[in-house]
Amino acid sequence: MTNTVPLKSPKRIYIQEVVTRDGFQAESTFIPTEEKIALINRLSRAGYAKIEVSSFTSPKAIPMLADAEAVMKGIYREPGVEYTVLIPNLKGAERALTVGVDEFNLVMSVSETHNQANLKMGREDSFQGLVSVIELAHANKTAVNISLSTSFGCPMSGITSLAEFMSWVDRFANLGVRGITICDTTGMANPAQVQAICEATQAKYPKLQWTLHFHNTRGMGLANALAAVNSGIDRFDSSLGGLGGCPYAPGATGNICTEELVHMFDLMGFDTNMQIDALLECSKDLQTLIGRVLPSQLLMAGKVDRLYEAPCQS
Ligand code: COA
Ligand code: ZN
Repeated sequence: MTNTVPLKSPKRIYIQEVVTRDGFQAESTFIPTEEKIALINRLSRAGYAKIEVSSFTSPKAIPMLADAEAVMKGIYREPGVEYTVLIPNLKGAERALTVGVDEFNLVMSVSETHNQANLKMGREDSFQGLVSVIELAHANKTAVNISLSTSFGCPMSGITSLAEFMSWVDRFANLGVRGITICDTTGMANPAQVQAICEATQAKYPKLQWTLHFHNTRGMGLANALAAVNSGIDRFDSSLGGLGGCPYAPGATGNICTEELVHMFDLMGFDTNMQIDALLECSKDLQTLIGRVLPSQLLMAGKVDRLYEAPCQS
């Protein structure tokens, strides 16, 4: 874009798309398998580091993603892009192994209440189950990431303390996972809290792959992403068009919007490796696919270099 600020050696930012998982999971009208595959194939050429294809959850809990195997089998896997899936338990991991994935993205909540609502079990039971999943992954040479939901706060039990969050980080770090995603499931984080969590995690575990996963529920999404980058983070989950939300978290709304995140970072001179125009095209077509306007301000306004006709002065 024309007014991009050139940096001497631009910092690389890794963008991870979650629209076909976090974005689709709460949609009420089933999106056909071939539409999911077609969208992922287009996104695969847009420059992402990682794409979360689907989730291997119970089809009763998330009917929209009951076709996870078919989608994984149907997509073209672009070299250089990692294809990950969300996994809540051993059954999900066994399903994922049958189709082959680059990463298991395990999930549990820091909040006991949200873990019960989302996964129908307590945190301790989730953790014990995930220990077996991690063993299975390592035996199959599959990388493991753990997404910790409600890391900043839970809509049912309130603000999550840094100490409580760190206690779960410690437990997973000791099991040899590759990365941890710090998830703001219902947009409760603020930039000061983000800075504190990013500094604490990286200081204690500098070699772990850290990802920040924000929702824009209270309009703080991009501010939080910027606070994370300024605190040394280089990896983000985001969703095309800003679609998304956990169906088992009251008041949940969309993730931070991929095209807005990329647009901001590109303008600031970071190296996102992303094809912003391709993203906007995909986002426009996604609106047609789901039949309603997406919460993407950028899709409405266009990039900053979009010029408008001056009004007539007659
Ligand atoms: N994939 C497919 N089916 C699964 C499954 C999986 N990963 N895990 C469990 N099931 C099936 C069981 O086989 C059983 O089937 P049956 O009724 O035909 O016998 C049924 O689901 C119930 O199994 P159970 O172990 O009792 O699960 P549950 O009802 O306690 O649900 C979870 C637990 C974790 C499987 C379910 O709550 C879930 O998938 N949650 C995901 C929520 C989510 O993705 N939220 C958004 C992302 S944060
Ligand atoms: Zn999310």
